[in-house]
Amino acid sequence: MNTSYKFQGWLGLDPSSAKGNMQWKEYEPKTWEETDVDIKVTHCGICGSDLHTLRSGWAPTIYPCCVGHEIVGTAVRVGSKVERNIKVGDRVGVGAQSGSCLKPECEECASGMENHCPNMVGTYNGKYADGSKSYGGYSDYCRAPSHFVVRIPSSIPSEEAAPMLCGGITTFAPLKKNGCGPGKKVGIVGVGGLGHFGILYAKALGAASVTAISRTSAKKEDAMQLGADGYIATNDDADWSTHHARSLDLIVSTVSSPNMPLEGYLQLLRTNGQFIQVGAPEDKLPAFNVFPLIGKGVKIGGSAIGAPREIEEMLALTAEKGIRPWVQKRALGEANKAIVDMDEGRARYRYVLVNEAHAKM
Ligand SMILES: NC(=O)c1ccc[n+]([C@@H]2O[C@H](COP(=O)([O-])OP(=O)(O)OC[C@H]3O[C@@H](n4cnc5c(N)ncnc54)[C@H](OP(=O)(O)O)[C@@H]3O)[C@@H](O)[C@H]2O)c1
Ligand SMILES: [Zn+2]
Ligand SMILES: [Zn+2]
Repeated sequence: MNTSYKFQGWLGLDPSSAKGNMQWKEYEPKTWEETDVDIKVTHCGICGSDLHTLRSGWAPTIYPCCVGHEIVGTAVRVGSKVERNIKVGDRVGVGAQSGSCLKPECEECASGMENHCPNMVGTYNGKYADGSKSYGGYSDYCRAPSHFVVRIPSSIPSEEAAPMLCGGITTFAPLKKNGCGPGKKVGIVGVGGLGHFGILYAKALGAASVTAISRTSAKKEDAMQLGADGYIATNDDADWSTHHARSLDLIVSTVSSPNMPLEGYLQLLRTNGQFIQVGAPEDKLPAFNVFPLIGKGVKIGGSAIGAPREIEEMLALTAEKGIRPWVQKRALGEANKAIVDMDEGRARYRYVLVNEAHAKM
């Protein structure tokens, strides 16, 4: 079937696209399957991963590439075999993942860990089993397999729901999995898009205290307003790691740069504490001394986005508790300017592109 709409969006054609050189062009979406949903995009958050990908920071990107994986919009075409009973006209969203093998013999897919499937397909810069490419949400329309398309609870505005689908879930999932809750003292490193969600969700999950850990004091008031109980500015207090040593049970680090004081972060942990890295720097982490690990039985781990059922759980908690992320709307037409501002750390705390043709600013 030929659709009445075109798949077009902001395409990165080479690494210079990250500097604000994306071009508006048409592209060929994934081959239609009856399990798919076409989403008329109204909103799409700007995630740090969009920049890493546009600039080929992690690995060579398969250009042309339309980034954006915090997508909310309206289902305009639904296949005959879609999951979640999605209907044309429903408000739906898709996050950073748009595919996995979904085979019963896959240990990860069979146990609700689709986000760890060895054949995970990203919402952009990914390849489906049939060889077609995935294109993201800096666009008019996005085609995604319904297994990864969620319904948005009616009480959550689209511009707030969009960044939850990657930024939100990437902090909610490791907090939940690693025991954030009553009695736990939690630290969130990096007060950015992910980090601000980390503060909100750690509080919502009932942490005994939440400490925001940032480079400077500039974001202190914001962090406290978001619900943090404590704040550490690592560049502004030379002795921060001894001042706050052994004060936290769980740290989720969203830092996107390899230039991080990792040993200092580990010093903040109590015995049996855990350090979970979700930020994805383009270079290796700094070398560090093992004695904090050995001496305190500390564990270092990582976490990748979250599975569809975890996203649904996060959205339900958000609706139940009335959690409000801090978003700033930017016109999709100005996406090139918005990604540059994002790269310069100006977002407070998530830019969300609004497709002016499909939604009011
Ligand atoms: N694991 C996953 O599944 C997953 C999912 C989504 C995103 N990510 C990754 O997570 C990272 C963060 O994404 P984001 O969208 O939250 O980006 P962001 O809004 O730019 O936030 C990153 C934060 O990291 C801190 N930071 C930056 N450079 C630093 C440095 N040199 N030293 C210490 N801290 C530094 C900053 O916090 P302060 O200003 O407070 O210091 C900054 O706000 C990116 O690498 C992204 O690719 C991973
Ligand atoms: Zn993301
Ligand atoms: Zn699988």
